[in-house]
Amino acid sequence: MKRIYLDNAATSFPKAPGVAQAVYDYLTSVGSNINRGAYQEALEAEEVVYDTRELLAEFFGCSQLENVVFTKNITESLNLTIRGLLKLGDHIITTSMEHNAVLRPLNHLKINYNDSLDVSILPCDQYGDLPRGQALDTLLTNHLTPRTKAIIMTHASNVSGTILPLQEVSSFCHRHNLFFIIDTAQTAGILDYSFGDLKADAIAFTGHKGLLGPQGIGGVVLSTKLSSILEPLITGGTGASSEDDLQPVHLPDRFEAGTLNLPGIYGLNSSLNYLKELHIKTIMDKELSLTESFLNGIHSIKGVKLIGPSSLSHRTAVVSLDFPNMDNALLSHKLASVFGITNRCGLHCAPLAHKTLGTFPEGTVRFSFSHFNTQDDVDYTLKAIKQCLQEG
Ligand SMILES: Cc1ncc(COP(=O)(O)O)c(C=O)c1O
Repeated sequence: MKRIYLDNAATSFPKAPGVAQAVYDYLTSVGSNINRGAYQEALEAEEVVYDTRELLAEFFGCSQLENVVFTKNITESLNLTIRGLLKLGDHIITTSMEHNAVLRPLNHLKINYNDSLDVSILPCDQYGDLPRGQALDTLLTNHLTPRTKAIIMTHASNVSGTILPLQEVSSFCHRHNLFFIIDTAQTAGILDYSFGDLKADAIAFTGHKGLLGPQGIGGVVLSTKLSSILEPLITGGTGASSEDDLQPVHLPDRFEAGTLNLPGIYGLNSSLNYLKELHIKTIMDKELSLTESFLNGIHSIKGVKLIGPSSLSHRTAVVSLDFPNMDNALLSHKLASVFGITNRCGLHCAPLAHKTLGTFPEGTVRFSFSHFNTQDDVDYTLKAIKQCLQEG
C-alpha cells in the first residue's frame, strides 16, 4: 500500500538525507565516548559534538557554544528548566495552548510544593491565538504579580498550528525582568525565524521534528543569567573534574551528566547541515504552499470543520480537522488502514489546547506536512477524505 506520511508534528519522516548514514558511520567506525579518552576516535567524536553545538548556537542565535546543552528531547529540556528554576512560592505565566511537556512538569511541581506554586494560564481564543499589541500587554499585566518569575510558552501549537506572538511576550519579559522560556518543538527547522532576536533565557528544542534528526536528541540554549541560578536536573559523571564531589558549575557539564547520545548528535549534525544548505525559508514556503492547497480543498468538502486559523500568516503546516457527522477515530483509522495516510487522532498530548479550541474530549484528526510532501499527497488525501465521508 502507498504510504503518505502526514504525522510530522509527532516526528518528522523522512529524515534529512545523510542522517541515517551519519548515525551508521558513528556506530560502525567511531564508537567512542567523549571527554573520557585521548585517542583519535574520541577526539573525532569530540569535534563533531563541538561542531554540532556550533551549528545549534548559530541556528538559535546564541554567541556562547557552552550555553547549548544536550538533552534527550524537549520534554527533558523543559523539565530541566522548569524544575531547576521554580522554587516554593514562585508564580509563572503560561498559555492555554501548551503541550503536556510544559503543563505536567508545572502541575507536578505544584503538587510537590503543596500548592505553593502559582501558575497563571493565559486564555487563548477559539483559534488558539493570543491578542496582539495593547490587548496582549493588558492581559499579561493583569496576571503579573511581585512573585512572577517567568513566562513559558510554545512558539506554535501542535494541535492547531497557531503561531503565538513570541516577540511581544519577550519584550514584556524584558520590561518586567522575567525569565522567558520557549518551546520550539513545532517551529525549529520549520519557521524562518530569528530566535536570537528574542533574547530568551531558555530556547528548548527537540531534534526529531522539524530539525529532521533522529529521536533521542534534543537540548536547550540557556542564557548565562538563567544558567547561573538553574539547579541541574540530574547529576553524575562528566568525564572532566572527576575529583569534585559535586557537579561542576561550568557549562555545559553542569547540565550534561552521563554519556551523551552520540549517534543522535552525529545524526543531528548531518540534519543541521542539510537545513543550513537548503535554507529554512525554502522549507517554510513549501510547507505553507501545501497547507494552503489542503485548506482550500477542505473548505470545499461538506462535513469537515477546520480547527484553528485559516490564515497562513498565523499558522504552521499542522492542520486539525473535526468531522461532526462521523467518528473522528473511525475516519482517522480508515485513512491510515485503507489509504495509507499516516495521520493522528485524539488530544495530541495537549488537553488544554483542545478545551481552548472547543474540541475536548473528542480531539481532532491532525494532518501535518513536511517539505518532503508533494501536491500529489495533498490531492490524494483530499480525495480520500471525500470518499470516507461519502461512504460514511
Ligand atoms: C509543542 C510541543 N512541545 C513539546 C513536545 C514534546 O516533544 P518531545 O517528545 O520530543 O520531548 C511536543 C511533541 O509533540 C510538542 O508538539
